[in-house]
Amino acid sequence: MTTTFYPGDAYPVVLGRLQDTFSDWLQQRRPSKILLLCDANTRRDCLSGFLAATGLPANTPVVEIPAGETYKHIQTCTSIWEQMLKAQLDRHALVINLGGGVIGDMGGFCAATWKRGVDFVQVPTTLLSMTDAAIGGKLGIDFQKVKNTIGVFQNPAAVFVDPVFLNTLPERELRSGFAEVIKHALIGAPELWEMIRDFTPEQLSACPQETWLNMLSQSIAVKVRIVTEDPHEKGIRMLLNYGHTIGHALESYFLETENPLTHGEAIAIGMLTESWVQHQRRAEQVPDAWIRLMLRIFPHRNIPLDIVPDIWQTMQQDKKNKAGKVRMTVPGNMELDMEVLEPSQEEVRDSLLFYNNL
Ligand code: GLY
Repeated sequence: MTTTFYPGDAYPVVLGRLQDTFSDWLQQRRPSKILLLCDANTRRDCLSGFLAATGLPANTPVVEIPAGETYKHIQTCTSIWEQMLKAQLDRHALVINLGGGVIGDMGGFCAATWKRGVDFVQVPTTLLSMTDAAIGGKLGIDFQKVKNTIGVFQNPAAVFVDPVFLNTLPERELRSGFAEVIKHALIGAPELWEMIRDFTPEQLSACPQETWLNMLSQSIAVKVRIVTEDPHEKGIRMLLNYGHTIGHALESYFLETENPLTHGEAIAIGMLTESWVQHQRRAEQVPDAWIRLMLRIFPHRNIPLDIVPDIWQTMQQDKKNKAGKVRMTVPGNMELDMEVLEPSQEEVRDSLLFYNNL
């Protein structure tokens, strides 16, 4: 079964098997040239399956970059642009980004800036990018250790989501992406929440394709509703940053250590701590079911409180901030309803203490 969403009526997000959809779409496009971007992991695990499913020739030009967030910077972009130059990519070419969030964000950024913009397609291979990063036209790279600081909004020509690639994903990465599914459930999909609230890591790693299709369809629907309403993050799209203000700061901090957190692990801590600030102010408790699910899926990690000044400094760079105030967004009382909080450093510290004591 194939489901197609159209964020802002601008481009198709096609959820289903690639072999049923991609080649018809490509035949209508007729690009002058195709350049396929992947990293070492997706070249090894996904490329041959992608070529077989789409019918693209085995000699399709491929640019491979090293895998991982630590390479999401301008030097890697330079090497991609060099390959684009070498391949003589004109404005009628098509770049296919086969990979997770880093490939999609950085490959999209390189394509959107190449000769002022060449078409690109996102083919996400991780749960995180299938449910979130590949949809909505946010492209960019990290700068001086701050995530996604340089970038543009530019929609892809299409997004093709085929959960078959989830079979290639290490379990920790699968759990990482699940944090964004949880986020979508909590901010705007009560039915999805009912579906996943009792999930275990074992269920996640043994999830059949139909369950993925069902889960992804509900999760993508939330993302599509939000980016359709607010493509450039002037309002409700900020709600997609739930968990990301504290989460991104923790992720950036631990990226520099021997024991980095995955994006999802950091965002799960971010959702619990940011919700704690909101509930604390209302003299309420964070719902027990939220805590139980996060602790079941993500290993608990003690956060040393002496890093708070460091992460507070990173939070000063958050793109949602206004007039020098750190801002974070948490779900309000209704579906797709947002509350904006301006936490103090002490509240961030106390929220981490709450998390440490879980
Ligand atoms: N990942 C958050 C957004 O697309 O706005």
